[in-house]
Amino acid sequence: MNYHVLTLFPEMIEDGMNTSITGRAITKGLLSLHTVNIRDYSVTGNGRIDDYPYGGGAGMVMQAEPVMRAYEDLISRIVSKPRVIYLTPQGQVFRQQMAEEFAKEEDLIFLCGHYEGIDERVLEEIVTDYVSIGDYVLTGGELPAMVMMDAIARMVPGVLSNQESGQTESFQGNLLEYPQYSRPEDWRGKKVPPVLMSGHHGNVDRWRRNQSLLRTLRVRPELLMGAEFDKADRKYLHALLRQETEETVTPEELNFLSKLLAIREKA
Ligand code: ADE
Repeated sequence: MNYHVLTLFPEMIEDGMNTSITGRAITKGLLSLHTVNIRDYSVTGNGRIDDYPYGGGAGMVMQAEPVMRAYEDLISRIVSKPRVIYLTPQGQVFRQQMAEEFAKEEDLIFLCGHYEGIDERVLEEIVTDYVSIGDYVLTGGELPAMVMMDAIARMVPGVLSNQESGQTESFQGNLLEYPQYSRPEDWRGKKVPPVLMSGHHGNVDRWRRNQSLLRTLRVRPELLMGAEFDKADRKYLHALLRQETEETVTPEELNFLSKLLAIREKA
């Protein structure tokens, strides 16, 4: 996977991406990172790349020409014509499934905006994907680009060690991850759930699956609508609904659960 980033802050991208697991993957040659400083393509010669918005209003707009020149120079040096991802709160919300799809590409170009955005005309010319990382507004596209590159990198074969990739089930299968515990067995009076100390793999797996179902119900119930349940899952969810487990379930959670199970029974 070759990442190319059009940005006003290349050092921010490089510092972030050359750290930890993505840094290791770059060193190993599984990922490559190439940043292009849009400021180097200023048309005024003094490094200026922004101007006032037509129609008035607060802030500055990044001009079309420096962005276009940076892009053209970049693609003149690569064989393919990669997808261009523009990071913006006006885009589609980034999800695990999108990370999996983008990971199939050979090259990806990320375009990071600043100020009040980029002149629409150049976006129309070059952008293939408009992506938001969530419903909040950041000061620029660099952090969102790094979020995407990190999530995509995890899906590139070889980037995670076997051990690391075994721990990545959240959102795969639409369920949140179960809780994890490590030594000591008693930490400040809080004990590790006994089933995890039992050595009974079947019971451990069942307990973890139930915890995933419970967590998803509590924190992100809407995800359960897209999850698949086997017989044992349904048995646990019914037990929760009938309040036959030790878990406390709120009236809202019960309400959601009864609707979910009714829909599933019909299907
Ligand atoms: N730029 C500013 N805020 C953003 C967000 N939430 N997602 C993607 N790009 C952004």
